[in-house]
Amino acid sequence: METIRALVVRESTPQPTVAIEQLPVSDFRPRPLRVHVAYSTLNYKDGMVMKGLGRLVRSYPHIPGVDLVGQVIADETDTYTPGDWIIATGFRIGELYWGGYADEAFLEPDWVVRLPHSLTPRQAMGIGTAGLTAMLAIMSLEHLGIAPSSEDPLLVTGAAGGVGSIAIAIANRLGYSVAGSTGRANETDYLKHLGAATIIPRDELDGGPERPLESERWLGCIDSVGGQTLARVLAQTKRTGAIASVGLAGGATFTASVMPFLLRGVSIAGIDSVNAPLHARNIAWERLADVLDPKLLEEMITEIDLESLPSYADQILKGQVRGRVVVALNPSL
Ligand SMILES: NC(=O)c1ccc[n+]([C@@H]2O[C@H](COP(=O)([O-])OP(=O)(O)OC[C@H]3O[C@@H](n4cnc5c(N)ncnc54)[C@H](OP(=O)(O)O)[C@@H]3O)[C@@H](O)[C@H]2O)c1
Repeated sequence: METIRALVVRESTPQPTVAIEQLPVSDFRPRPLRVHVAYSTLNYKDGMVMKGLGRLVRSYPHIPGVDLVGQVIADETDTYTPGDWIIATGFRIGELYWGGYADEAFLEPDWVVRLPHSLTPRQAMGIGTAGLTAMLAIMSLEHLGIAPSSEDPLLVTGAAGGVGSIAIAIANRLGYSVAGSTGRANETDYLKHLGAATIIPRDELDGGPERPLESERWLGCIDSVGGQTLARVLAQTKRTGAIASVGLAGGATFTASVMPFLLRGVSIAGIDSVNAPLHARNIAWERLADVLDPKLLEEMITEIDLESLPSYADQILKGQVRGRVVVALNPSL
């Protein structure tokens, strides 16, 4: 019987069990694109899935892993040729559908993009959903008229996390003056090295605004934190500035005044990397390959194996992971 090694989450109380198993190929839902997985990654959402949080998984057993890069084994639709390298992120892979924490994945061809020529598979997963999201956030801010300014900083919240780290590196490379907000003062050197000109302590922002409009500080913001941090950043965003709302590491709800919209023309753009259309993904990946300094990317990466993954689930949910965690499944591919 042909089997595939996978990290399997099984339903249990009070939380699911997570273990490496050999699953029969027949347990995998057949899909046209069969891929040999080289690397996956750990994202905040993967931590939630391994811990059974947020009702992200609808049926068990489940294989997490919202990102993967791998080589095509077969494609029944002939869109891809065996040996082609593809990247899969989002489209609810690793949540509704079995994901990247397995030696093989069965996918729909329109869930994937080709690996850009200038990226290695490992670099692609160093970027992963976090990097794609950071670039989609920049593209969204550009669409709203935000451009680099020598005077006004672009704020990145949750700076030392995955989205934050890549957002800082690419925004700095694009010419923005970047301020990084972090709860980890010990990561100051890391964040400055990535390209943050200023470090803002998290507690300066996380209590919500004192007034509907505060002093204007930010050209714009890439916000991974949400909650009352987002409310405060909104009150401090400059006239015609814009915020890309990316995450909820600090909370899903916020209470804010509409005054920044009405009196300063501030905008908030929602970023949905999961359902982003393929043409936007292709543009974002090509720009990431072009803009992101490979040496900086390397410094963001912690590489782990499948066995170590469950212990990292707690760490990412506690905001203790720095940069990006890449999971090596078959690195010699
Ligand atoms: N919209 C999308 O398509 C999309 C895509 C990817 C991720 N996300 C979301 O974006 C967020 C960041 O994802 P990620 O992969 O970068 O996660 P991550 O690596 O865990 O980074 C999150 C960062 O937020 C900060 N943080 C954690 N807990 C906090 C708290 N209670 N209050 C304030 N700040 C806190 C920490 O940064 P410091 O230590 O530097 O403060 C942490 O490193 C998550 O909420 C994730 O679900 C959304």
